[in-house]
Amino acid sequence: MSQNILVLPGDGIGPEIVAEAVKVLDVLQADYGLDIELTEGSIGGAGYDAAGHPYPDETKLLARKADAILLGAVGGYEYDKLPREVRPERGLLAIRSDLDLFSNLRPAILTEELADASSLKPEIVAGLDIMIVRELTGGIYFGKPRGIRTLDNGEREGYNTLVYRESEVERIARSAFDIAMKRGKRVCSVDKANVLEVSELWREVVETVAEDYPQVELSHMYVDNAAMQLVKDPKQFDVIVTKNMFGDILSDAAAMLTGSIGMLPSASLNAKGIGMYEPIHGSAPDIAGQGIANPLATIMSVSMMLRYSLDKVELADKVDAAVKSVLQQGLRTADIYVEGTEQVGTAAMGDAVVAALKN
Ligand code: IPM
Ligand code: MG
Repeated sequence: MSQNILVLPGDGIGPEIVAEAVKVLDVLQADYGLDIELTEGSIGGAGYDAAGHPYPDETKLLARKADAILLGAVGGYEYDKLPREVRPERGLLAIRSDLDLFSNLRPAILTEELADASSLKPEIVAGLDIMIVRELTGGIYFGKPRGIRTLDNGEREGYNTLVYRESEVERIARSAFDIAMKRGKRVCSVDKANVLEVSELWREVVETVAEDYPQVELSHMYVDNAAMQLVKDPKQFDVIVTKNMFGDILSDAAAMLTGSIGMLPSASLNAKGIGMYEPIHGSAPDIAGQGIANPLATIMSVSMMLRYSLDKVELADKVDAAVKSVLQQGLRTADIYVEGTEQVGTAAMGDAVVAALKN
């Protein structure tokens, strides 16, 4: 039976980069027997434009039926003045929550080909391979109460709530330990247990889960130190597991270690293995429509989809090899361009990956 893939291009550069990833899916269908059916839906600003909501009901129905979702990005200047509840980002948060996509995997890998693109010294970053496991459906992003209220003296006060239940910590910790078992068998749990009670509980639960994984070495680190260590000596990390907001911040930092945020894919999984796959870079409205965005993070998100939701590991390896091959050929989009390489646009990069796949 063919598997159902929902494609959500979204806003900004989303449609351009998703178009290249769809080219890759097309080749896998035509030449490698991948049995999938693609449906398209709207989300973010595009959802607001089409149906008045960043996560339209029609998209919700499609998403609930999908085996996997490929998402471009959401957000754009033209939506900044909308009421909070209908801003594009709310669509992303709503779909994560609706499908219970609690486990967000954000790998930061630096291939030799791109060691020069990093702003850090090659010896610090070459061969980097970190997996950030970010809790995605809880914490301060979703905690209640939240809002902006007016105090008795007329002053306004904004407030959010950082809250985690034991069960939420337990499942994300298991996710991280399971992944560590397939990698370097080291987990670093990042928290702020020196200040926050919620982190104290987080630490306790992570330690209990660790008892089920005697082969995995567990360490703990405060988030401020983790930010520093990521820049100072990133190769000390294997798997990092952390709360929603810390993961948001640390994953952008980890992305830049690799030279470009344009190279980083992600997977967001629920307990059933249904996943949403998206580049972590966002909608980049400043370069949207110019045909210069890097489609490789989205193409590598397809590879993660093949690996984690569609159970097609050999095809995932093929896509990764095709990406490596275009980089070896010296092709670079503007964000990863260095002297001596050949600068190409979004479509040319996608076409090169397709050509490499056909070889
Ligand atoms: C990310 C993004 C989102 C987040 C925004 C767009 C809501 O920054 O996926 O990292 O904060 O989770
Ligand atoms: Mg982010």
